Amino acid sequence: MKIAIVTGASKGIGKAIAVRLKNEGYNVIAISRTKSEVGDIIYETDVTDKENDFRIVKEIVNKFGRIDVLVNNAGFGIYGSFLDTSIDEEDYMIKTLFNAPLYFIKAVYPIMVRQREGNIINIISEAAYVATPKLIVYSAAKAALAHFTNALWAEARKYNVKVSGIYPGPVKTNFTSHPSFKNSEDKFSKYAVEPEKVANAVIKAIKSGKREIYVPSKLKIEPYFLKLSMIMQDFTYWIVSKYFS
Ligand SMILES: NC(=O)c1ccc[n+]([C@@H]2O[C@H](COP(=O)([O-])OP(=O)(O)OC[C@H]3O[C@@H](n4cnc5c(N)ncnc54)[C@H](OP(=O)(O)O)[C@@H]3O)[C@@H](O)[C@H]2O)c1
Repeated sequence: MKIAIVTGASKGIGKAIAVRLKNEGYNVIAISRTKSEVGDIIYETDVTDKENDFRIVKEIVNKFGRIDVLVNNAGFGIYGSFLDTSIDEEDYMIKTLFNAPLYFIKAVYPIMVRQREGNIINIISEAAYVATPKLIVYSAAKAALAHFTNALWAEARKYNVKVSGIYPGPVKTNFTSHPSFKNSEDKFSKYAVEPEKVANAVIKAIKSGKREIYVPSKLKIEPYFLKLSMIMQDFTYWIVSKYFS
């Protein structure tokens, strides 16, 4: 039996990923603050609670003896000028977007190394590479997660553990329901793709172990910019990972 943990599985991208993994035959552990409708085991919890994240992973390993896939997806964004946003909310967003994946990976990675297989998949964002005005702290937190993902990729492959970052553009979800997006929702929905596209990218990551997978928006020229950026990144990481390995 293959075991997959999906954070933020109650709605949006995480729900689509959980459904897709279930269809692929995975036993899905769904984690979110409100109850997920999908998942074989459901945890209603906040991913920023470090001790709890470690406890969940321990419980899963005690029950099933292994973990095959971890998808760090839980997240939200705060939109607006840095003059107007709340530092407490930004603190909490950084903990959700960056610290929580760190906690789960810290708990899961040694198990996957011992197994000599597994996939760690982080749902990042194009905003990690395109520092985005009005998503200032969000894009910084995602950039931190992207760097962490890329650096871990180079280490983990020695143990046959595959680490991938998925970089969606706008996706049709509840992402813009945060009050800070008021009156700006259209900017995102115009070019947004279905969350199932991100779920497809997760399956691609599991099969290929690719370090970076982009899920471009419907904006026609975007894929060309992303491709160029990917080629440059690939080349850089190829050199850096050879040098530090
Ligand atoms: N939509 C986009 O345009 C887009 C583009 C690029 C990247 N992303 C990324 O994709 C991921 C999923 O976002 P989405 O678009 O699917 O948004 P969404 O529809 O609002 O779903 C977010 C999910 O994360 C969970 N979540 C948020 N904070 C949490 C916390 N502290 N603890 C536990 N669960 C938490 C939510 O569940 P509860 O509220 O029940 O806790 C929900 O299941 C995020 O990391 C986001 O940054 C989204």
